[in-house]
Amino acid sequence: MTSFQSRDWIATRGAALRGEVAVPGDKSISHRAVMLAALADGVSHIEGFLEGADTRATAAIFAQMGVRIEVPSASRRVVRGAGVDGLRAPAGVLDCGNAGTGMRLLSGLLAAQSFDSVLAGDESLSRRPMNRVIEPLSRMGAHIDAEDGGLPPLRIRGGQRLQGIDFESPVASAQVKSAMLLAGLFARGETSVREPHPTRDYTERMLSAFGVDIEHSPGFARLRGGQRLRATDIAVPADFSSAAFFIVAATLVPGSELRLRAVGLNPRRTGLLAALRAMGADIVEERAANHGGEPVADVVVRHAPLRGIEVPVELVPDMIDEFPILAVAAACAQGTTVVRGAAELRVKESDRIAAMATGLRSLGVRVEERPDGAVIGGGALRGGTIDSLGDHRIAMAFAVAGQLADGAVAIDDVANVATSFPGFDELARQAGFGLRAR
Ligand code: S3P
Repeated sequence: MTSFQSRDWIATRGAALRGEVAVPGDKSISHRAVMLAALADGVSHIEGFLEGADTRATAAIFAQMGVRIEVPSASRRVVRGAGVDGLRAPAGVLDCGNAGTGMRLLSGLLAAQSFDSVLAGDESLSRRPMNRVIEPLSRMGAHIDAEDGGLPPLRIRGGQRLQGIDFESPVASAQVKSAMLLAGLFARGETSVREPHPTRDYTERMLSAFGVDIEHSPGFARLRGGQRLRATDIAVPADFSSAAFFIVAATLVPGSELRLRAVGLNPRRTGLLAALRAMGADIVEERAANHGGEPVADVVVRHAPLRGIEVPVELVPDMIDEFPILAVAAACAQGTTVVRGAAELRVKESDRIAAMATGLRSLGVRVEERPDGAVIGGGALRGGTIDSLGDHRIAMAFAVAGQLADGAVAIDDVANVATSFPGFDELARQAGFGLRAR
């Protein structure tokens, strides 16, 4: 059966989840691979590229700026780098689609170009805060205009001479850090970024793989401007955040035993594993390997009953994209789960605290919403109707909830699942999910 492009799903109890699942490539790494390969001297080959709407939008933006990107087959890209000084003025607006990563990283990269550019996005992205990048980039000398409240579209004026700064970031955000480092590549002197909590370090690791001299440790990065990038080949590991839906589903559905193949296990991404293990999950890592500097392993999950926990605040940045699915695990656990220190969830593709609280309540779950988290009472789920608010991770989290509910869960507005996980529905059905188009 092919993947359907339905806007709505019906999720119902399916079979125990068994066998093996290979989820698509990592979104964060795919964005960065195209960006750095485009700036490099020479030809870079990318394997495992995520064929999602977000990452394709980033590739299309570089094509608009004159970079030649070939597609020899699905999930592969051959990028003929333009060099740090080789991007060309784009003819039109650069459309980032749904991608906060695309827009924020590009704002840093484009702030230093000789030409003007405009970054726009879809309805959800047009509501997301950009002052967090505009302000520090302006301190480097960038000139970026936004709509009221610092919202997209961003109008970036070219021809500015940037100066490196020492930036103490008020938010734990890999996107902000990365925007600063990409601008810093083109700036005079050194640019350094210090974070309140360490975030994913893909930009730092990948700059290093492209031959850039960069110093970094958890929560800190520093580079000197004016360096060139040397083309390299990138193997993108499977996206942990996509695997997360299957990891939780196999934990929750009785009789399940599922193997997720070669999943990227960068420690800045795997907070969910620590949280689930503390809740009683049975998750084993096997066949550990290293793919281009990134740790990967098969993740083998067996059904286990869960108990509620207080999620340690220090885990929050390492599982920032996993709260929708963690909330489903919490709703099916025995006892109460408390999440705090996660106010960033309010400015993701949707307000994920509100979206999960509303959705879970309509399935009969007790949820107390707080400004920076929620208190979720575990118990039984009933059927109901969910508005995903166009947020891919909310839609997939409730597809998992449907495997446990004692009635059908109808999920509206699921088209954006294609931004991060094209083919989720088909893979889920193959693994045992009850999931169909409405
Ligand atoms: C990302 C960083 C995180 C994450 C997003 C991808 C990245 O966002 O939520 O899905 O690729 O750098 P923030 O930087 O806003 O925390």
